Amino acid sequence: MTILIDIIAGARPNFMKIAPIVHALAQRRRAGSRLQWRLVHTGQHYDRRMSGDFFTQLGIPEPDVNLGAGSGTQARQTAAIMTAYEDLLMAKPSRMCLVVGDVTSTMACAITAQKLQVPVAHVEGGLRSRDWSMPEEINRLATDAISNWFFTTSSTAGDNLRAEGVEDSRIFFTGNTMIDTLLANMDRLQPPAFASDLPAGDYLVLTLHRPANVDDAGDFARMLRAVGEGADGKRVIFPVHPRTRKSCELIDDFPSNIHMVEPQPYLEFIWLVKHSLGVITDSGGITEEATVLGIPCMTLRDNTERPETVEIGTNELLGTDPAALRPALERLLAGQWKKGAIPEKWDGKTGARIAAILEDMLD
Ligand code: UD1
Repeated sequence: MTILIDIIAGARPNFMKIAPIVHALAQRRRAGSRLQWRLVHTGQHYDRRMSGDFFTQLGIPEPDVNLGAGSGTQARQTAAIMTAYEDLLMAKPSRMCLVVGDVTSTMACAITAQKLQVPVAHVEGGLRSRDWSMPEEINRLATDAISNWFFTTSSTAGDNLRAEGVEDSRIFFTGNTMIDTLLANMDRLQPPAFASDLPAGDYLVLTLHRPANVDDAGDFARMLRAVGEGADGKRVIFPVHPRTRKSCELIDDFPSNIHMVEPQPYLEFIWLVKHSLGVITDSGGITEEATVLGIPCMTLRDNTERPETVEIGTNELLGTDPAALRPALERLLAGQWKKGAIPEKWDGKTGARIAAILEDMLD
């Protein structure tokens, strides 16, 4: 008799996090394990460039189910995911629902499963930015409040959970599956087609997609101007997330050294970061990747749920005032950025650790 685990993925950052778990479970299955997964794509991200390309490049099998939720307001998207996942679980229940990260799909599936008494495991549990204006923080709090088990990326995440009353026996400090994917693909990175035109190692990478940074066209334009000027003539490669594109279209005086490109597939994006002078971002995951690659990273946010990227890694929090960019970029361009080290257990073996624990737990 097989033991069925649902693995949930919905949005771009989820795909890098599930890949090593799927690969580790597949290896165990070949060795006779009874654990079998059902890959559930919620459909939160649906563009090829936001979803399909990642499955192909990372060798993730086709999803077994696509819930087809699509875009919408926070509540509409949550409702669409919940009703579709509930139908699936009622038709064919699983023994566990495994969710990763902090996107709307994570929270929606965790709650739906737990209400049907399907236990929930949260990979990357325990992260806290303490900033309730971020939808991801609400997702993290809601998911963790009703998860049975936590696979954590840092000791701080475990401390956060213990402070909220979670018993030690439910917390497993296993490391970072996103970094498993990074290390597994280092030899496969490939330059995007436009890179032949790039000054080798002499450009910056920019990503911005948080509503707080991009939804107000005026603030967004001021931030872009500060990046363009601070880069001091260097080229800035800007892969543009679909929500950001809408704001870009409203800007008249777009800085000429900022080059907008399509959202990049995984192997191309990491290639761009690895060969850059530094990254300017409002993403959380990229701060982790930059840390492991040893690439300077500036985060345009007031807080982070990933403090180790600042305390140990190459990341610095600049806040959202564009004035902070110039002095930071001056330090970077003068070669004065901190070097950083790699956080504990970000070693490429997290997927295997998680699969071993799941088997112990369920079989
Ligand atoms: C989501 C995550 C965020 C993550 C980001 C990475 C939540 C709350 N946020 O934000 O944590 O960092 O993904 O990409 O889950 N769109 C498309 N095509 C797509 C997907 C989205 O055009 O394939 C457009 C739609 O207009 C949509 C908008 O982008 O309304 C935002 O998408 P959504 O999934 O709501 O949130 P993200 O901003 O992508």
